[in-house]
Amino acid sequence: MASIEEKITLLRREYASRALHKADLSEDPFKQFQAWFDEALHSDLAEPNAMTLSTAGADGTVSNRTVLLKDVDDGGFIFFTNYASRKGRDLEENPQAALLFFWVELQRQVMVQGRVEKTSRERSDAYFHRRPFEAQVGALASSQSCTIPDRAHLEARYIALDKQYREQQVPLPECWGGYRVIPNRVEFWQGRPNRLHDRIVFRREGDAWIKERLSP
Ligand SMILES: Cc1cc2nc3c(=O)[nH]c(=O)nc-3n(C[C@H](O)[C@H](O)[C@H](O)COP(=O)(O)O)c2cc1C
Repeated sequence: MASIEEKITLLRREYASRALHKADLSEDPFKQFQAWFDEALHSDLAEPNAMTLSTAGADGTVSNRTVLLKDVDDGGFIFFTNYASRKGRDLEENPQAALLFFWVELQRQVMVQGRVEKTSRERSDAYFHRRPFEAQVGALASSQSCTIPDRAHLEARYIALDKQYREQQVPLPECWGGYRVIPNRVEFWQGRPNRLHDRIVFRREGDAWIKERLSP
Protein backbone atom coordinates (compact mmCIF):
# COMPACT_ATOMS: atom_id res chain seq x y z
CA MET A 1 0.00 0.00 0.00
CA ALA A 2 1.54 3.28 -1.11
CA SER A 3 1.90 6.00 1.53
CA ILE A 4 0.18 9.36 1.16
CA GLU A 5 3.60 10.85 0.41
CA GLU A 6 4.14 8.37 -2.46
CA LYS A 7 0.68 9.00 -3.87
CA ILE A 8 1.22 12.76 -3.73
CA THR A 9 4.56 12.38 -5.53
CA LEU A 10 2.67 10.84 -8.46
CA LEU A 11 0.45 13.93 -8.64
CA ARG A 12 3.35 16.22 -9.54
CA ARG A 13 2.44 18.22 -12.61
CA GLU A 14 3.87 20.87 -14.83
CA TYR A 15 2.14 24.21 -15.20
CA ALA A 16 2.24 25.06 -18.87
CA SER A 17 -0.41 27.71 -19.34
CA ARG A 18 -0.35 31.39 -20.17
CA ALA A 19 2.23 33.90 -19.08
CA LEU A 20 1.39 36.85 -16.87
CA HIS A 21 3.12 40.06 -17.98
CA LYS A 22 3.08 42.90 -15.48
CA ALA A 23 2.42 45.43 -18.24
CA ASP A 24 -0.63 43.49 -19.47
CA LEU A 25 -2.36 43.63 -16.12
CA SER A 26 -4.72 46.47 -15.33
CA GLU A 27 -3.44 49.17 -12.96
CA ASP A 28 -6.54 48.50 -10.87
CA PRO A 29 -6.71 45.13 -9.07
CA PHE A 30 -10.52 45.21 -9.13
CA LYS A 31 -10.53 45.48 -12.94
CA GLN A 32 -7.94 42.70 -13.10
CA PHE A 33 -10.04 40.54 -10.78
CA GLN A 34 -13.10 41.20 -12.93
CA ALA A 35 -11.20 40.04 -16.04
CA TRP A 36 -9.98 36.84 -14.38
CA PHE A 37 -13.34 36.17 -12.76
CA ASP A 38 -15.07 36.51 -16.15
CA GLU A 39 -12.62 33.96 -17.57
CA ALA A 40 -13.30 31.64 -14.63
CA LEU A 41 -17.05 32.02 -15.22
CA HIS A 42 -16.64 31.06 -18.85
CA SER A 43 -14.36 28.10 -18.11
CA ASP A 44 -17.03 25.74 -16.84
CA LEU A 45 -15.53 25.53 -13.34
CA ALA A 46 -17.61 23.85 -10.63
CA GLU A 47 -17.75 26.75 -8.13
CA PRO A 48 -15.82 29.70 -9.55
CA ASN A 49 -17.04 32.03 -6.76
CA ALA A 50 -15.97 29.68 -3.96
CA MET A 51 -13.15 31.15 -1.88
CA THR A 52 -11.26 30.20 1.24
CA LEU A 53 -11.80 32.77 3.98
CA SER A 54 -9.18 32.95 6.72
CA THR A 55 -9.75 34.78 9.98
CA ALA A 56 -7.99 35.00 13.33
CA GLY A 57 -9.49 35.78 16.71
CA ALA A 58 -8.01 38.00 19.41
CA ASP A 59 -5.78 35.17 20.67
CA GLY A 60 -4.24 34.78 17.19
CA THR A 61 -5.76 31.36 16.47
CA VAL A 62 -6.25 31.15 12.70
CA SER A 63 -9.16 29.32 11.07
CA ASN A 64 -10.45 29.00 7.54
CA ARG A 65 -13.45 27.77 5.60
CA THR A 66 -15.03 28.05 2.15
CA VAL A 67 -17.61 30.77 1.48
CA LEU A 68 -19.16 32.08 -1.73
CA LEU A 69 -18.33 35.47 -3.19
CA LYS A 70 -21.62 37.24 -3.89
CA ASP A 71 -20.48 40.59 -5.25
CA VAL A 72 -17.58 42.97 -5.61
CA ASP A 73 -18.67 46.53 -4.89
CA ASP A 74 -17.65 49.75 -3.12
CA GLY A 75 -14.08 48.57 -3.15
CA GLY A 76 -14.70 45.23 -1.49
CA PHE A 77 -15.41 41.52 -1.86
CA ILE A 78 -18.78 40.53 -0.38
CA PHE A 79 -19.96 37.30 1.21
CA PHE A 80 -22.86 36.45 3.51
CA THR A 81 -22.89 34.41 6.69
CA ASN A 82 -23.97 34.12 10.29
CA TYR A 83 -22.42 36.90 12.43
CA ALA A 84 -22.50 34.61 15.49
CA SER A 85 -20.51 31.85 13.75
CA ARG A 86 -16.88 31.18 14.50
CA LYS A 87 -15.77 33.43 11.63
CA GLY A 88 -18.21 36.11 12.82
CA ARG A 89 -16.76 36.01 16.32
CA ASP A 90 -13.21 36.18 14.91
CA LEU A 91 -14.13 39.19 12.77
CA GLU A 92 -15.74 40.93 15.75
CA GLU A 93 -12.46 40.62 17.66
CA ASN A 94 -10.16 41.19 14.72
CA PRO A 95 -11.73 42.66 11.55
CA GLN A 96 -9.01 41.43 9.20
CA ALA A 97 -9.33 38.58 6.71
CA ALA A 98 -7.69 36.85 3.78
CA LEU A 99 -9.53 35.34 0.80
CA LEU A 100 -8.16 32.77 -1.60
CA PHE A 101 -9.59 31.76 -4.96
CA PHE A 102 -7.97 28.67 -6.46
CA TRP A 103 -9.05 28.01 -10.04
CA VAL A 104 -7.21 24.75 -10.59
CA GLU A 105 -8.23 24.26 -14.24
CA LEU A 106 -6.82 27.71 -15.09
CA GLN A 107 -3.71 27.18 -12.95
CA ARG A 108 -4.50 30.42 -11.20
CA GLN A 109 -4.96 31.72 -7.70
CA VAL A 110 -5.94 35.13 -6.38
CA MET A 111 -5.18 36.15 -2.81
CA VAL A 112 -6.96 39.10 -1.20
CA GLN A 113 -6.06 40.56 2.19
CA GLY A 114 -7.68 43.42 4.02
CA ARG A 115 -9.95 44.83 6.66
CA VAL A 116 -13.53 43.70 6.98
CA GLU A 117 -16.74 45.60 7.61
CA LYS A 118 -20.37 44.49 7.74
CA THR A 119 -22.59 45.34 4.79
CA SER A 120 -25.58 47.60 5.51
CA ARG A 121 -28.66 45.97 7.00
CA GLU A 122 -30.58 46.93 3.82
CA ARG A 123 -28.01 45.14 1.66
CA SER A 124 -28.15 42.00 3.82
CA ASP A 125 -31.94 42.09 3.86
CA ALA A 126 -32.17 42.46 0.08
CA TYR A 127 -29.83 39.52 -0.49
CA PHE A 128 -31.44 37.35 2.20
CA HIS A 129 -34.86 37.72 0.61
CA ARG A 130 -33.55 36.97 -2.88
CA ARG A 131 -32.50 33.51 -1.65
CA PRO A 132 -34.89 30.58 -2.07
CA PHE A 133 -37.44 30.20 0.76
CA GLU A 134 -35.76 26.96 1.89
CA ALA A 135 -32.37 28.67 2.22
CA GLN A 136 -33.95 31.48 4.27
CA VAL A 137 -35.56 28.97 6.63
CA GLY A 138 -32.30 27.02 6.79
CA ALA A 139 -30.41 30.16 7.84
CA LEU A 140 -32.99 30.85 10.53
CA ALA A 141 -32.89 27.25 11.75
CA SER A 142 -29.11 27.05 12.10
CA SER A 143 -27.16 28.61 14.96
CA GLN A 144 -24.09 28.27 12.79
CA SER A 145 -20.97 26.84 14.47
CA CYS A 146 -22.80 26.00 17.74
CA THR A 147 -22.73 22.45 19.10
CA ILE A 148 -26.04 20.59 18.63
CA PRO A 149 -27.11 17.26 20.12
CA ASP A 150 -27.84 15.56 16.79
CA ARG A 151 -29.16 16.10 13.25
CA ALA A 152 -32.75 15.46 14.35
CA HIS A 153 -32.56 18.61 16.52
CA LEU A 154 -31.70 20.70 13.43
CA GLU A 155 -34.34 19.08 11.24
CA ALA A 156 -37.04 19.59 13.88
CA ARG A 157 -36.15 23.29 14.04
CA TYR A 158 -36.30 23.53 10.26
CA ILE A 159 -39.71 21.83 10.06
CA ALA A 160 -41.17 24.09 12.77
CA LEU A 161 -39.88 27.27 11.10
CA ASP A 162 -40.93 26.07 7.64
CA LYS A 163 -44.47 25.67 8.98
CA GLN A 164 -44.39 29.00 10.80
CA TYR A 165 -43.27 31.04 7.79
CA ARG A 166 -45.07 29.25 4.92
CA GLU A 167 -47.57 32.10 4.66
CA GLN A 168 -45.39 35.05 5.65
CA GLN A 169 -42.02 36.59 4.95
CA VAL A 170 -39.09 34.99 6.75
CA PRO A 171 -37.51 37.74 8.90
CA LEU A 172 -33.82 38.47 8.34
CA PRO A 173 -32.18 36.90 11.42
CA GLU A 174 -30.50 39.47 13.69
CA CYS A 175 -27.24 37.52 13.44
CA TRP A 176 -27.17 37.06 9.68
CA GLY A 177 -25.71 39.34 7.00
CA GLY A 178 -22.88 40.29 4.75
CA TYR A 179 -19.24 41.22 5.15
CA ARG A 180 -17.13 43.27 2.79
CA VAL A 181 -13.38 42.57 2.63
CA ILE A 182 -11.67 45.82 1.62
CA PRO A 183 -8.28 44.82 0.26
CA ASN A 184 -4.94 46.43 0.89
CA ARG A 185 -3.17 43.62 -0.99
CA VAL A 186 -4.27 41.52 -3.98
CA GLU A 187 -2.02 38.93 -5.59
CA PHE A 188 -2.56 37.26 -8.98
CA TRP A 189 -0.71 33.96 -9.43
CA GLN A 190 -0.34 32.06 -12.68
CA GLY A 191 1.25 28.63 -12.82
CA ARG A 192 4.24 28.40 -15.22
CA PRO A 193 6.74 25.68 -16.24
CA ASN A 194 9.66 24.67 -14.01
CA ARG A 195 8.01 26.19 -10.95
CA LEU A 196 8.87 29.65 -12.31
CA HIS A 197 5.36 30.84 -11.68
CA ASP A 198 4.20 34.40 -12.32
CA ARG A 199 3.16 36.46 -9.30
CA ILE A 200 1.96 40.03 -9.60
CA VAL A 201 0.97 41.77 -6.40
CA PHE A 202 -0.96 45.02 -5.88
CA ARG A 203 -0.28 46.87 -2.60
CA ARG A 204 -2.38 49.82 -1.54
CA GLU A 205 -0.39 52.91 -0.60
CA GLY A 206 -2.73 55.74 0.36
CA ASP A 207 -5.12 56.08 -2.56
CA ALA A 208 -2.76 54.43 -5.04
CA TRP A 209 -2.08 50.82 -5.96
CA ILE A 210 1.56 49.75 -6.37
CA LYS A 211 2.02 46.85 -8.77
CA GLU A 212 5.07 44.59 -8.36
CA ARG A 213 6.35 41.21 -9.50
CA LEU A 214 7.28 38.67 -6.83
CA SER A 215 9.63 35.75 -7.09
CA PRO A 216 7.70 32.48 -7.17
C1 LIG B 1 -18.71 25.44 -1.57
C2 LIG B 1 -19.08 25.96 -0.21
C3 LIG B 1 -19.67 27.20 -0.09
C4 LIG B 1 -20.02 27.71 1.14
N1 LIG B 1 -20.53 28.97 1.22
C5 LIG B 1 -20.80 29.52 2.43
C6 LIG B 1 -21.23 30.87 2.53
O1 LIG B 1 -21.35 31.62 1.53
N2 LIG B 1 -21.51 31.34 3.77
C7 LIG B 1 -21.37 30.58 4.90
O2 LIG B 1 -21.65 31.07 6.00
N3 LIG B 1 -20.93 29.31 4.84
C8 LIG B 1 -20.64 28.75 3.64
N4 LIG B 1 -20.16 27.47 3.56
C9 LIG B 1 -19.96 26.71 4.82
C10 LIG B 1 -18.64 27.16 5.47
O3 LIG B 1 -17.54 26.56 4.80
C11 LIG B 1 -18.56 26.84 6.98
O4 LIG B 1 -18.79 25.48 7.22
C12 LIG B 1 -19.54 27.67 7.79
O5 LIG B 1 -19.65 28.99 7.33
C13 LIG B 1 -19.16 27.68 9.27
O6 LIG B 1 -17.85 28.22 9.38
P1 LIG B 1 -17.21 28.73 10.77
O7 LIG B 1 -17.68 27.77 11.84
O8 LIG B 1 -15.75 28.69 10.56
O9 LIG B 1 -17.73 30.12 11.01
C14 LIG B 1 -19.78 26.94 2.32
C15 LIG B 1 -19.17 25.69 2.21
C16 LIG B 1 -18.82 25.21 0.96
C17 LIG B 1 -18.12 23.88 0.87
